[in-house]
Amino acid sequence: MSVIVTHHLTKVFPGGVRAVDGIDFEVNAGEIFGFLGPNGAGKTTTIKMLNTLIEPTSGTAVVAGFDICKNPAEVRKRIGYVAQDVGVDERATGRENLTLYGHFYRLDSKTIKKRVKEIFELVDLAGYEDKIVSTYSGGMRKRLDIAMGLIHRPEVIFLDEPTAGLDPQTRVRIWDYIRNLAKAMGVTIFLTTHYMEEADHLADRIAIIDLGKIITMGTPDELKQSISGDVVTLSLLTAEDDDHNELMRRTESALSAEPFVIGTQAVGDKLAVYVDNGESAVPSIMRLLAGQGIEVETISMARPSLDDVFLKYTGRTIRAEEGTATTFAQIRRKRIRRQQ
Ligand SMILES: Nc1ncnc2c1ncn2[C@@H]1O[C@H](COP(=O)(O)OP(=O)(O)OP(=O)(O)O)[C@@H](O)[C@H]1O
Ligand SMILES: [Mg+2]
Repeated sequence: MSVIVTHHLTKVFPGGVRAVDGIDFEVNAGEIFGFLGPNGAGKTTTIKMLNTLIEPTSGTAVVAGFDICKNPAEVRKRIGYVAQDVGVDERATGRENLTLYGHFYRLDSKTIKKRVKEIFELVDLAGYEDKIVSTYSGGMRKRLDIAMGLIHRPEVIFLDEPTAGLDPQTRVRIWDYIRNLAKAMGVTIFLTTHYMEEADHLADRIAIIDLGKIITMGTPDELKQSISGDVVTLSLLTAEDDDHNELMRRTESALSAEPFVIGTQAVGDKLAVYVDNGESAVPSIMRLLAGQGIEVETISMARPSLDDVFLKYTGRTIRAEEGTATTFAQIRRKRIRRQQ
């Protein structure tokens, strides 16, 4: 059964920005659905339309059985929304924040009291109910945020970038809570993220969104399998007087000339080499570079990651501004040339 179905959902902001451009997808009951995309892709705009906070320019969606344009009030009763920007009152206690939300949803005081206890346990904040929120850590605050979206027992909860700005350890703990929630409450979770690992770890299915359009959708494994071949990642041994950038450039151009190399990409101080068959490519790469006097420090081989999937479909890395990129568009062109 589908809990969310969109029909060509579109939002054009005044001034002409086409933030969401005719998207169609379905989210099944009980699943964790990940909406993955870079800054400005249209993730928050999509969430706001599904939450009835803003109206679509055209198209519509059915959320928890009701049309967002025709029955926004019915939709609102059945959803929880945890915004990208924290909405808690820092000067109040956790309990006060949650109680306020309960009243907001018109729950009676007895129900609120009972649910506050349950939810604080669920997000592992039991004992902190009466502490002022400004004394919570970042991770605790995020858990309180999520708790606030749960007080009225929604069928669907929308989490907009639930771990943005948190340290890696806290992030992993939040993932556990989100997974537990899906299981313990049977709630459907729609989350947005620009962290590949987050989508990969958490989501049953992922839609990759870029420039307002869904460019591909599937389980994390399906998406990764849509890329053939392997990725060989290597780092170079540099002496003190070596120019590392120059050495990387020489390595890239030597490898790019080889027929078994589909493409290369610098990732930090490492080089990712896309090949058809990693096992036979590793010895060839070692031989080739040794012949040019280039020493390899580390070398490893892996199946492509979601990063590679993003690169394939958009022609950019999700962190394009950080990387130098031989884009997948270039890789594709090279592959096509080789097949001709
Ligand atoms: N109220 C608005 N008026 C005009 N343009 C807007 C408005 N809100 C968003 N946009 C534009 O719409 C596009 C999509 O924005 P949106 O906030 O949905 O992206 P996002 O995927 O959530 O990005 P981020 O990862 O940075 O949160 C952007 O180009 C943004 O500048
Ligand atoms: Mg956003």
